[in-house]
Amino acid sequence: MSGEGDQFMPKTILEYNTVSLDEKNSALVIVDQTQLPGRIEMLSLTEVEDIWEAIYLLKVRGAPAIGVAAAIGVYVAVKNAEVSDMQVFYEKFRKAKDYLATSRPTAVNLFWALDRMDSVVKEHMDSEIDEVKELLRLEAVNIRSEDIEVCRRIGENALTLVKPGDGLLTHCNAGQLATVKYGTATAPMYLGQEKGYGFHIYVDETRPLLQGARLTAFELQEAGLDVTLICDNMSGAVMKKGLIDAVFVGCDRVAANGDTANKIGTSVVAAVARHYGVPFYVCAPTSTIDISLSGGDKIPIEERPPEEITEMWYEKRMAPKGVKVYNPCFDVTDHELITGIVTEYGVVQAPYEVSIKNLVQRPDPQ
Ligand code: MRU
Repeated sequence: MSGEGDQFMPKTILEYNTVSLDEKNSALVIVDQTQLPGRIEMLSLTEVEDIWEAIYLLKVRGAPAIGVAAAIGVYVAVKNAEVSDMQVFYEKFRKAKDYLATSRPTAVNLFWALDRMDSVVKEHMDSEIDEVKELLRLEAVNIRSEDIEVCRRIGENALTLVKPGDGLLTHCNAGQLATVKYGTATAPMYLGQEKGYGFHIYVDETRPLLQGARLTAFELQEAGLDVTLICDNMSGAVMKKGLIDAVFVGCDRVAANGDTANKIGTSVVAAVARHYGVPFYVCAPTSTIDISLSGGDKIPIEERPPEEITEMWYEKRMAPKGVKVYNPCFDVTDHELITGIVTEYGVVQAPYEVSIKNLVQRPDPQ
Protein backbone atom coordinates (compact mmCIF):
# COMPACT_ATOMS: atom_id res chain seq x y z
CA MET A 1 0.00 0.00 0.00
CA SER A 2 1.42 3.35 -0.93
CA GLY A 3 1.28 6.44 1.22
CA GLU A 4 0.94 8.63 -1.86
CA GLY A 5 -2.47 10.17 -2.39
CA ASP A 6 -3.92 8.42 0.63
CA GLN A 7 -6.01 10.90 2.59
CA PHE A 8 -5.55 8.83 5.76
CA MET A 9 -1.78 8.82 5.36
CA PRO A 10 -0.03 9.38 8.69
CA LYS A 11 1.81 12.67 8.84
CA THR A 12 5.41 11.55 9.01
CA ILE A 13 7.50 8.43 8.51
CA LEU A 14 7.86 8.29 12.30
CA GLU A 15 4.19 7.43 12.62
CA TYR A 16 4.66 4.16 10.73
CA ASN A 17 5.90 1.08 12.53
CA THR A 18 9.37 0.20 11.23
CA VAL A 19 8.83 -3.43 12.19
CA SER A 20 5.88 -5.13 13.88
CA LEU A 21 3.62 -8.16 14.08
CA ASP A 22 0.25 -7.61 12.41
CA GLU A 23 -2.98 -7.57 14.40
CA LYS A 24 -3.90 -11.11 13.32
CA ASN A 25 -0.50 -12.37 14.56
CA SER A 26 0.16 -13.83 11.15
CA ALA A 27 2.60 -11.51 9.35
CA LEU A 28 5.76 -9.50 9.83
CA VAL A 29 4.93 -5.95 8.80
CA ILE A 30 7.74 -3.61 7.73
CA VAL A 31 8.28 -0.31 5.99
CA ASP A 32 10.16 -1.18 2.79
CA GLN A 33 13.27 0.94 3.36
CA THR A 34 14.59 0.38 -0.16
CA GLN A 35 11.74 2.63 -1.39
CA LEU A 36 12.49 5.55 0.93
CA PRO A 37 12.38 8.49 0.83
CA GLY A 38 10.35 8.52 -2.40
CA ARG A 39 7.61 6.15 -1.40
CA ILE A 40 6.26 4.78 1.86
CA GLU A 41 5.30 1.18 1.22
CA MET A 42 4.33 -1.30 3.91
CA LEU A 43 5.07 -4.98 3.33
CA SER A 44 3.20 -7.79 5.04
CA LEU A 45 5.36 -10.91 5.01
CA THR A 46 4.24 -14.40 5.93
CA GLU A 47 6.73 -16.66 4.16
CA VAL A 48 10.11 -17.29 5.75
CA GLU A 49 11.84 -16.94 2.35
CA ASP A 50 10.34 -13.45 1.92
CA ILE A 51 11.41 -12.49 5.45
CA TRP A 52 14.96 -13.71 4.74
CA GLU A 53 15.01 -11.72 1.51
CA ALA A 54 13.66 -8.58 3.22
CA ILE A 55 16.57 -8.70 5.66
CA TYR A 56 19.16 -9.54 2.99
CA LEU A 57 17.97 -6.79 0.64
CA LEU A 58 17.84 -4.22 3.49
CA LYS A 59 14.08 -3.72 3.19
CA VAL A 60 14.32 -3.94 6.96
CA ARG A 61 17.76 -3.03 8.29
CA GLY A 62 19.72 -1.66 11.21
CA ALA A 63 20.91 -4.02 13.92
CA PRO A 64 18.00 -3.75 16.40
CA ALA A 65 15.32 -3.81 13.67
CA ILE A 66 16.93 -6.88 12.11
CA GLY A 67 16.76 -8.62 15.50
CA VAL A 68 13.08 -7.75 15.96
CA ALA A 69 12.26 -8.79 12.38
CA ALA A 70 13.98 -12.15 12.87
CA ALA A 71 12.16 -12.80 16.17
CA ILE A 72 8.77 -12.01 14.65
CA GLY A 73 9.81 -13.81 11.47
CA VAL A 74 10.67 -17.10 13.14
CA TYR A 75 7.37 -16.99 15.06
CA VAL A 76 5.41 -16.34 11.87
CA ALA A 77 7.32 -19.18 10.18
CA VAL A 78 6.18 -21.82 12.67
CA LYS A 79 2.88 -20.55 14.02
CA ASN A 80 0.87 -22.59 11.53
CA ALA A 81 3.00 -25.72 11.77
CA GLU A 82 0.54 -28.60 12.03
CA VAL A 83 2.48 -31.12 14.06
CA SER A 84 1.66 -32.98 17.23
CA ASP A 85 5.14 -34.06 18.28
CA MET A 86 7.23 -31.46 20.12
CA GLN A 87 10.52 -32.79 18.73
CA VAL A 88 9.17 -32.42 15.19
CA PHE A 89 7.97 -28.90 16.02
CA TYR A 90 11.43 -28.03 17.35
CA GLU A 91 13.06 -29.33 14.17
CA LYS A 92 10.78 -27.08 12.10
CA PHE A 93 11.58 -24.15 14.37
CA ARG A 94 15.33 -24.82 14.19
CA LYS A 95 15.20 -25.01 10.40
CA ALA A 96 13.49 -21.59 10.15
CA LYS A 97 15.80 -20.11 12.78
CA ASP A 98 19.01 -21.39 11.15
CA TYR A 99 17.81 -20.17 7.76
CA LEU A 100 17.04 -16.65 8.99
CA ALA A 101 20.43 -16.59 10.71
CA THR A 102 22.11 -16.78 7.27
CA SER A 103 20.48 -13.55 6.04
CA ARG A 104 23.20 -11.14 7.25
CA PRO A 105 26.38 -11.88 9.22
CA THR A 106 27.50 -8.74 11.08
CA ALA A 107 24.70 -7.44 13.32
CA VAL A 108 24.80 -9.68 16.37
CA ASN A 109 21.23 -8.67 17.29
CA LEU A 110 20.04 -11.11 14.63
CA PHE A 111 21.60 -14.08 16.45
CA TRP A 112 20.82 -12.65 19.89
CA ALA A 113 17.10 -12.41 19.06
CA LEU A 114 16.96 -15.85 17.41
CA ASP A 115 18.73 -17.36 20.44
CA ARG A 116 16.17 -15.81 22.76
CA MET A 117 13.42 -17.40 20.67
CA ASP A 118 15.29 -20.71 20.70
CA SER A 119 15.50 -20.68 24.50
CA VAL A 120 11.72 -20.35 24.72
CA VAL A 121 11.22 -23.61 22.84
CA LYS A 122 14.05 -25.46 24.56
CA GLU A 123 12.77 -24.52 28.00
CA HIS A 124 9.25 -25.78 27.22
CA MET A 125 9.85 -29.08 25.47
CA ASP A 126 7.34 -30.72 27.84
CA SER A 127 4.58 -28.20 27.13
CA GLU A 128 1.75 -28.30 24.61
CA ILE A 129 2.76 -27.07 21.15
CA ASP A 130 0.02 -24.40 21.11
CA GLU A 131 1.30 -23.11 24.42
CA VAL A 132 4.84 -22.87 23.04
CA LYS A 133 3.59 -21.05 19.96
CA GLU A 134 1.93 -18.48 22.23
CA LEU A 135 5.13 -18.14 24.29
CA LEU A 136 7.06 -17.53 21.06
CA ARG A 137 4.63 -14.80 20.09
CA LEU A 138 5.01 -13.16 23.50
CA GLU A 139 8.81 -13.32 23.32
CA ALA A 140 8.87 -11.70 19.87
CA VAL A 141 6.50 -8.97 21.03
CA ASN A 142 8.64 -8.43 24.15
CA ILE A 143 11.85 -8.16 22.13
CA ARG A 144 10.11 -5.48 20.10
CA SER A 145 8.72 -3.50 23.02
CA GLU A 146 11.95 -3.75 25.04
CA ASP A 147 13.73 -2.07 22.13
CA ILE A 148 11.63 1.08 22.59
CA GLU A 149 12.56 1.37 26.26
CA VAL A 150 16.23 0.55 25.60
CA CYS A 151 16.53 3.22 22.91
CA ARG A 152 14.84 5.83 25.08
CA ARG A 153 17.30 5.10 27.89
CA ILE A 154 20.24 5.31 25.48
CA GLY A 155 18.89 8.71 24.45
CA GLU A 156 18.65 9.90 28.07
CA ASN A 157 22.22 8.76 28.78
CA ALA A 158 23.57 10.30 25.58
CA LEU A 159 21.86 13.59 26.34
CA THR A 160 24.09 14.02 29.40
CA LEU A 161 27.09 14.26 27.03
CA VAL A 162 25.92 17.28 25.04
CA LYS A 163 24.42 20.72 25.59
CA PRO A 164 21.70 22.81 23.94
CA GLY A 165 22.69 24.28 20.59
CA ASP A 166 25.41 21.67 19.91
CA GLY A 167 26.30 20.49 16.42
CA LEU A 168 26.03 16.70 16.13
CA LEU A 169 27.23 14.44 13.34
CA THR A 170 25.94 10.96 12.56
CA HIS A 171 26.78 8.32 9.94
CA CYS A 172 24.44 5.82 8.28
CA ASN A 173 21.01 5.35 9.86
CA ALA A 174 20.90 4.40 13.50
CA GLY A 175 17.53 6.09 13.66
CA GLN A 176 13.96 5.07 14.29
CA LEU A 177 14.05 3.25 10.95
CA ALA A 178 16.82 1.03 12.34
CA THR A 179 14.95 0.26 15.56
CA VAL A 180 11.36 0.32 16.75
CA LYS A 181 11.34 3.89 18.09
CA TYR A 182 13.83 6.72 18.75
CA GLY A 183 16.82 4.94 17.18
CA THR A 184 20.10 4.68 19.05
CA ALA A 185 22.36 7.44 17.71
CA THR A 186 19.30 9.56 16.98
CA ALA A 187 17.69 8.99 20.39
CA PRO A 188 19.50 11.99 21.99
CA MET A 189 18.43 14.08 19.00
CA TYR A 190 14.74 13.21 19.42
CA LEU A 191 14.89 13.54 23.21
CA GLY A 192 16.79 16.83 22.85
CA GLN A 193 14.02 18.06 20.60
CA GLU A 194 11.46 17.23 23.32
CA LYS A 195 13.48 19.49 25.64
CA GLY A 196 13.99 22.27 23.07
CA TYR A 197 17.77 21.75 22.83
CA GLY A 198 18.01 23.10 19.26
CA PHE A 199 20.71 20.76 18.01
CA HIS A 200 22.22 21.28 14.54
CA ILE A 201 22.51 17.83 13.05
CA TYR A 202 24.83 16.87 10.22
CA VAL A 203 24.23 13.59 8.40
CA ASP A 204 26.76 11.77 6.22
CA GLU A 205 25.10 10.51 3.03
CA THR A 206 26.70 7.07 3.62
CA ARG A 207 27.72 5.46 0.35
CA PRO A 208 27.01 3.11 -1.25
CA LEU A 209 23.41 2.57 -0.16
CA LEU A 210 22.84 6.12 1.12
CA GLN A 211 21.25 5.22 4.45
CA GLY A 212 22.23 8.68 5.73
CA ALA A 213 20.69 10.59 2.83
CA ARG A 214 17.66 8.38 2.17
CA LEU A 215 16.78 7.44 5.73
CA THR A 216 18.40 9.56 8.46
CA ALA A 217 18.01 12.91 6.70
CA PHE A 218 14.45 11.89 5.84
CA GLU A 219 13.31 10.84 9.29
CA LEU A 220 15.00 13.75 11.09
CA GLN A 221 13.64 16.28 8.65
CA GLU A 222 10.15 14.81 8.94
CA ALA A 223 10.48 15.13 12.71
CA GLY A 224 11.23 18.83 12.30
CA LEU A 225 14.86 18.71 13.43
CA ASP A 226 17.51 21.02 11.99
CA VAL A 227 19.31 18.61 9.66
CA THR A 228 22.04 19.23 7.08
CA LEU A 229 23.09 16.50 4.65
CA ILE A 230 26.77 16.23 3.73
CA CYS A 231 28.76 13.87 1.51
CA ASP A 232 30.86 11.23 3.22
CA ASN A 233 34.07 13.06 2.35
CA MET A 234 32.98 16.28 4.08
CA SER A 235 33.13 15.28 7.74
CA GLY A 236 36.67 16.69 8.05
CA ALA A 237 35.57 19.99 6.59
CA VAL A 238 32.64 20.46 8.99
CA MET A 239 34.75 19.45 12.00
CA LYS A 240 37.58 21.81 10.98
CA LYS A 241 35.02 24.62 10.82
CA GLY A 242 34.04 23.85 14.42
CA LEU A 243 30.48 22.88 13.48
CA ILE A 244 30.53 19.52 15.28
CA ASP A 245 30.57 19.17 19.08
CA ALA A 246 30.00 15.41 19.17
CA VAL A 247 29.60 12.42 16.86
CA PHE A 248 26.96 9.79 17.64
CA VAL A 249 26.86 6.56 15.63
CA GLY A 250 25.16 3.21 16.02
CA CYS A 251 26.79 -0.20 15.82
CA ASP A 252 26.25 -3.73 14.59
CA ARG A 253 28.56 -5.50 16.98
CA VAL A 254 30.84 -4.44 19.84
CA ALA A 255 33.66 -6.83 20.77
CA ALA A 256 34.87 -7.43 24.32
CA ASN A 257 37.67 -4.88 23.95
CA GLY A 258 35.34 -2.13 22.68
CA ASP A 259 36.22 -2.42 18.98
CA THR A 260 33.01 -1.66 17.14
CA ALA A 261 31.65 -2.71 13.75
CA ASN A 262 29.32 -0.21 12.12
CA LYS A 263 28.50 0.96 8.61
CA ILE A 264 31.48 1.31 6.29
CA GLY A 265 33.07 4.73 6.75
CA THR A 266 32.43 4.95 10.49
CA SER A 267 36.10 4.35 11.33
CA VAL A 268 37.11 7.21 9.04
CA VAL A 269 34.75 9.57 10.87
CA ALA A 270 36.20 8.38 14.19
CA ALA A 271 39.77 9.03 13.03
CA VAL A 272 38.87 12.49 11.75
CA ALA A 273 37.03 13.25 15.00
CA ARG A 274 40.12 12.28 16.99
CA HIS A 275 42.23 14.57 14.81
CA TYR A 276 39.94 17.53 15.51
CA GLY A 277 39.35 16.71 19.18
CA VAL A 278 35.63 15.97 18.70
CA PRO A 279 34.20 13.30 21.06
CA PHE A 280 33.10 10.17 19.22
CA TYR A 281 30.31 8.15 20.87
CA VAL A 282 28.95 4.74 19.90
CA CYS A 283 25.33 4.14 20.92
CA ALA A 284 24.86 0.47 21.69
CA PRO A 285 22.02 -1.51 23.20
CA THR A 286 23.63 -4.27 25.28
CA SER A 287 22.10 -6.72 22.79
CA THR A 288 24.76 -5.47 20.33
CA ILE A 289 27.67 -6.35 22.62
CA ASP A 290 29.33 -9.67 21.85
CA ILE A 291 31.84 -10.53 24.56
CA SER A 292 32.49 -13.90 22.95
CA LEU A 293 34.72 -12.02 20.49
CA SER A 294 37.95 -10.64 21.95
CA GLY A 295 38.47 -7.92 19.34
CA GLY A 296 37.13 -6.31 16.19
CA ASP A 297 39.28 -8.50 13.92
CA LYS A 298 36.99 -11.41 14.88
CA ILE A 299 33.77 -9.67 13.81
CA PRO A 300 32.44 -11.15 10.53
CA ILE A 301 32.20 -8.33 8.00
CA GLU A 302 29.56 -8.65 5.32
CA GLU A 303 30.59 -8.10 1.71
CA ARG A 304 27.82 -7.10 -0.66
CA PRO A 305 27.33 -7.21 -4.44
CA PRO A 306 29.57 -4.90 -6.52
CA GLU A 307 26.52 -3.49 -8.33
CA GLU A 308 25.66 -1.53 -5.18
CA ILE A 309 28.68 0.62 -6.05
CA THR A 310 28.81 0.45 -9.82
CA GLU A 311 25.25 0.74 -11.06
CA MET A 312 22.65 1.05 -8.41
CA TRP A 313 21.55 4.67 -8.32
CA TYR A 314 21.48 6.01 -11.85
CA GLU A 315 20.15 4.91 -15.21
CA LYS A 316 23.71 5.34 -16.41
CA ARG A 317 26.56 3.22 -15.09
CA MET A 318 28.58 4.89 -12.36
CA ALA A 319 31.80 2.96 -13.05
CA PRO A 320 33.40 1.20 -16.02
CA LYS A 321 32.06 -2.25 -16.81
CA GLY A 322 34.18 -5.04 -15.35
CA VAL A 323 36.07 -2.84 -12.88
CA LYS A 324 37.21 -4.70 -9.77
CA VAL A 325 35.09 -3.75 -6.77
CA TYR A 326 35.56 -4.27 -3.05
CA ASN A 327 32.33 -3.65 -1.15
CA PRO A 328 32.58 -4.41 2.57
CA CYS A 329 29.40 -3.19 4.17
CA PHE A 330 30.87 -2.45 7.62
CA ASP A 331 34.18 -1.46 9.13
CA VAL A 332 35.63 -1.73 12.60
CA THR A 333 36.43 1.35 14.65
CA ASP A 334 39.32 0.67 17.01
CA HIS A 335 38.37 1.15 20.63
CA GLU A 336 41.16 3.73 21.06
CA LEU A 337 39.13 6.11 18.90
CA ILE A 338 35.91 5.74 20.89
CA THR A 339 35.28 8.34 23.62
CA GLY A 340 32.42 6.37 25.13
CA ILE A 341 29.88 3.63 24.43
CA VAL A 342 26.38 4.76 25.38
CA THR A 343 24.18 1.90 26.52
CA GLU A 344 20.79 1.68 28.20
CA TYR A 345 22.64 1.22 31.51
CA GLY A 346 24.94 4.21 31.18
CA VAL A 347 28.07 5.33 29.34
CA VAL A 348 31.09 3.02 29.48
CA GLN A 349 34.60 4.24 28.80
CA ALA A 350 38.15 2.90 28.50
CA PRO A 351 39.53 0.56 29.63
CA TYR A 352 36.74 -1.17 27.70
CA GLU A 353 37.79 -4.72 28.51
CA VAL A 354 36.95 -3.97 32.14
CA SER A 355 33.97 -1.63 31.70
CA ILE A 356 32.26 -3.87 29.14
CA LYS A 357 32.79 -6.96 31.28
CA ASN A 358 31.30 -5.17 34.30
CA LEU A 359 28.37 -3.99 32.20
CA VAL A 360 27.57 -7.40 30.80
CA GLN A 361 28.02 -9.14 34.16
CA ARG A 362 26.09 -6.51 36.14
CA PRO A 363 23.86 -8.01 38.83
CA ASP A 364 20.19 -8.09 37.87
CA PRO A 365 18.22 -5.48 39.87
CA GLN A 366 15.87 -7.21 42.33
O1 MRU B 1 23.56 -2.16 6.37
P1 MRU B 1 22.66 -1.51 7.38
O2 MRU B 1 21.86 -0.40 6.81
O3 MRU B 1 21.84 -2.52 8.13
O4 MRU B 1 23.68 -0.87 8.43
C1 MRU B 1 23.15 -0.25 9.57
C2 MRU B 1 24.16 0.35 10.46
O5 MRU B 1 25.35 0.28 10.21
C3 MRU B 1 23.65 0.99 11.71
O6 MRU B 1 24.46 2.06 12.09
C4 MRU B 1 23.66 -0.06 12.84
O7 MRU B 1 22.99 -1.21 12.44
C5 MRU B 1 23.04 0.47 14.08
S1 MRU B 1 21.30 0.68 13.96
C6 MRU B 1 20.76 1.29 15.45
